Formats: sequence, C-alpha cells, structure tokens
Amino acid sequence: MNLQICNSADEAAARAAALVAKQLRDKPASVIGLPTGQTSIGIYDELVRLHERGMADFSRAHTLNLDEFVGLSSTDPGSFCAFMQRHLFRRVNIQADHVHFLEGTARSVEKECARYEAVIESLGGIDLQLLGVGANGHIGFNEPSLHLEARTHRAHLKLETRRASAGLFGGRVRDVPTEALSMGIATILGATSVVLVALGRTKARAIASLLTGRVSTMKPVSFLQLHREVSVIVDREAAAMLPR
Ligand code: GLP
Repeated sequence: MNLQICNSADEAAARAAALVAKQLRDKPASVIGLPTGQTSIGIYDELVRLHERGMADFSRAHTLNLDEFVGLSSTDPGSFCAFMQRHLFRRVNIQADHVHFLEGTARSVEKECARYEAVIESLGGIDLQLLGVGANGHIGFNEPSLHLEARTHRAHLKLETRRASAGLFGGRVRDVPTEALSMGIATILGATSVVLVALGRTKARAIASLLTGRVSTMKPVSFLQLHREVSVIVDREAAAMLPR
C-alpha cells in the first residue's frame, strides 16, 4: 500500500487527479471507476483543469460509477448520475455512451446488478478505481455488516450514511433514499489499481482500520489490504489515528 499524507485537501485532490490523468495518458481507452461525495468534488475540479490544459483526455475512456440510489432516475438532481454530470462529465470530453451507471429505477434489481457486472467484464475490467470512504468505513455503499456482498447488489443504507448524503437533498435526511445499488467488495478489488482519498478528522478511524493488518466486514475499507496496488491519499487530519 502506498500511503501519501498531504498538507491540504487541494494537494490530495491534485495528487489523485494526477494519477487518473497518468492512467489516461498511459492507456487512453482506460476504464475508470468513479465515486461521488464531497471528497471527489475537488478531484473532479482538478481533472477538469488538467483536461483544459490538454493533460487529461477522456475521449476514449469509459467510466463506471460505484453506486446509485434506488428509486431515483438519472435526471433526478439528487441522483449520483446528476452529481457526476455537474461535477465532471459535462466539463470534459467523455463520450455519453462511455459513461456507465447503475439504473436506480430498474424494474428488476437482480437483472440490473447482473447487467452492470457484465458491462464491467465486457470492457475488460476496471483499470483504475477511484474511491472515497465513509466515516464508518464503507466503500461504495458496502456498509459495515456481519456479511459483505462480493458483487453488485442492493444495499441498505445506514442512517449515518444517509445523513452524510443529505446535502444532495437540501439537507433533508428523510428525503435520502434508504437503499442503493452498489458494486460489491470483489467488484472493487477486481480493479487493476485503486486510489482512495480521505480528508478530515471524521475519516481518521476508517483510515486507521485500513492499515492495521486486520480485515473486518465491520470496516469494509479494510478489505483493500487484500489488493496489491492501492494508493491511499489523505490529509493530516485523516492520518491522525495512524500509528507513528
Ligand atoms: C457516499 C458514496 C461513497 C463515498 C462516500 C464518502 O457514501 N457512496 O462512495 O466514498 O459517500 O463521501 P464524502 O466524500 O462526502 O465523505
């Protein structure tokens, strides 16, 4: 695991965006897995800047988002699809049919999850998976639990996770869906490389669990210890509980 401790959120965003841009230069037709959340916004702003300077070309890339709320259509302003349009897709040269999303309004959840796994496989797998992490250690929407799902599945969201997403719904927690579709742990670990970014004191416990040498379903992020190619980019606050 490659741990980088940064002096600011801007530095962390710049480092993560630089890794994505490098991936696109090394392999223009890369398949990139993407997260949503506050942490990702700075990374997407930086990727847009790199794109404007000719240093990040998305014209041949494919993207796959980690998750989507159940019951929201892609045009719903609270959906992750709309979030991605606002923060990244509208601002770079990605082809509309290269953007892949779980359909939150799919009639059959099982078929939709199987379809998504098949899309990932047909693209030859994910080259680089960018990740954030929840304060409780969730990745994607793989919440702490006695059991984790290996593959793309319907996930029940914890109240603390819905609270953290309330910003997308005008601050109203009751409007945040209770379920989502999410890539599973094995889907995420199947990526060739993983870049995880965490900012702020609230993420310190989750980051500590990522570097303990123990894997627990109660801290889904800890499963990244099973992967060979993980970069963890944090600020000093998120690194505060790491052993010296
Ligand atoms: C949501 C997303 C996760 C993301 C997490 C962290 O729960 N499903 O993929 O990592 O938020 O969000 P933030 O960066 O806002 O703390």
